[in-house]
Amino acid sequence: MLAHQCSARAYLATFVTIVVIILLLTADRLVHHSHALAHLPAGKTSSDTTQTNFERPSKPLPNESDTPGASASNPEDDDSIEGPCNRAVRFLRSKELGLSNKIQYSRRCIRPVHAEIDREEVANVSSLLITGTTVLDLNGDCNRIALPPCEPLTLHVPPAYPPQQGQYGHLLFGVASSYERLQDALPVFSHWLSGSGALFVAVVSNADSPDHKYDIAALEASYRQQNISAIITRPRLKQSLPRLDTAEDAELSRPAAVEQLHFLLIEDMLNVATPQTQWLGVLDDDTFFPALHPLDLTLRQHDHTRPRWLGALADNWVSMTIWGFMAYGGAGTFLSVPLAKQLHPHLRDCIRQTKIVSGDGMLKECVYAHSTTKLTLVEGLHQHDIMGDPSGFFESGRKTLSIHHWKSWYHAPVAQMAAVAKVCGDCFLQRWRFGRDTLLANGYSISVYRDGVDKLDLDRVEGTFNDPDAKFDFVYAPFRPKLSGDQKKSYRLEKVDGDIDRGERFRQVYVHRAPRGEGSEPVDEVVELVWEV
Ligand SMILES: *[C@@H]1O[C@H](CO)[C@@H](O)[C@H](O)[C@H]1NC(C)=O
Ligand SMILES: *[C@@H]1O[C@H](CO)[C@@H](O)[C@H](O)[C@H]1NC(C)=O
Ligand SMILES: *[C@@H]1O[C@H](CO)[C@@H](O)[C@H](O)[C@H]1NC(C)=O
Repeated sequence: MLAHQCSARAYLATFVTIVVIILLLTADRLVHHSHALAHLPAGKTSSDTTQTNFERPSKPLPNESDTPGASASNPEDDDSIEGPCNRAVRFLRSKELGLSNKIQYSRRCIRPVHAEIDREEVANVSSLLITGTTVLDLNGDCNRIALPPCEPLTLHVPPAYPPQQGQYGHLLFGVASSYERLQDALPVFSHWLSGSGALFVAVVSNADSPDHKYDIAALEASYRQQNISAIITRPRLKQSLPRLDTAEDAELSRPAAVEQLHFLLIEDMLNVATPQTQWLGVLDDDTFFPALHPLDLTLRQHDHTRPRWLGALADNWVSMTIWGFMAYGGAGTFLSVPLAKQLHPHLRDCIRQTKIVSGDGMLKECVYAHSTTKLTLVEGLHQHDIMGDPSGFFESGRKTLSIHHWKSWYHAPVAQMAAVAKVCGDCFLQRWRFGRDTLLANGYSISVYRDGVDKLDLDRVEGTFNDPDAKFDFVYAPFRPKLSGDQKKSYRLEKVDGDIDRGERFRQVYVHRAPRGEGSEPVDEVVELVWEV
């Protein structure tokens, strides 16, 4: 009886899970053109908050005490002396970082040695990464906050990517989204677009909303201020077009549904394309490229003078069963100009003749109806229909050309994470092992494994996200089991500082948060990696 109840409950749980996923996938597409679900609760994971108490070797430093003036005497912290504290301390005290008053802190100064390396290999460094841990009182008098010495560490990394210098004029990107979301997205778009010379077209879906006076020119100016060749416009289509399943007398939505605008981007992009334009990249407003250079190298393997449709499937089989075989919009979809021109005369009819709500689904039907072109899958583009804790993916060493759903289905500060690509290109997410138990996944995390790294098959993806079962195998297998908070202690990259383009020292702050509100004063643990550039 009991066994029967249990298995009935297991069935029910599985059923409920599947229903929830289907609802989310569907709601997502109804709310946005493809997968930009904005209102999921922030996915705080157990490994974010679980306090672990296993010992890490830490040797006390002679200068651990609050030696007055010690920080000022350390010349490498003097890159900016304005304000009451030096830049390194001001950074740790910043509100956005929100660290506890007292932190356990250590840092290393990384000397990157650039070489052609095997990026797949997890290099072994026999010394420890985290050394010289000291307690800092961030609320105290600046003059009494003494940062420990910054022990140098040499890491072999790939060469930096060539500077942007406007060399991507053959790429044209398009996004349809609301004014507010386009405003929010600027710093993140800026990471890969600034100075690239690529054209960027954004259609503001709610620009004509009667309740707001949106200043489209101001939005465009803010993009141009970041040296993005942006063209930001009101929708040409003022009202949704009727679809195959729209009732005769139905009220058509005004302004036009963002999914229709997303699909019609092909027209907006062709209107501004130049003779130089090779690829039209149709994006979601939360599609992120860690860097344009590797994406461009990949696109160059395809013939832009022929009709071509490039993209990625979803990475979740549930999505595949709902939406089918197509280029999923969030991963980034690329059309060659000849294909876009073939589709152009049919775009409005394609909307009228489909029942599919999502922009990427309309594109699929339109390609099938009006060309013989079929989808070419591009390795490294990711739709990321994964929910919860994505660390298994980001710590797997897999290269990634695009990242998606990082501010809804899961949370990851992607622009901060990928900033290190400006120092050493493909070193973003490169992995090193230190001593017996520590793994650095560059730009994402430092993990300390209680039972050592040897026990782990690092080629496998740790199943950290929700339901990492067979429905993800076709993209992520093989998996290894998720570790508990006391088997694995995680420091996640939260913030970076330093303008690499100006040759400033570049700091990555990795944080293991102490639980809040449990009586005793929390003490966050912080590891800072300072890259000499
Ligand atoms: C400790 O700090 C003092 C200056 O405050 C410095 O002269 C000395 O070299 C430091 N010792 C170590 C081991 O870093
Ligand atoms: C690092 O050490 C592990 C375990 O000792 C070994 O299996 C691996 O091959 C080493 N990696 C490299 C790149 O030498
Ligand atoms: C802005 O981008 C262009 C390429 O589009 C580049 O040539 C120029 O140097 C950039 N300007 C600044 C100030 O970064």
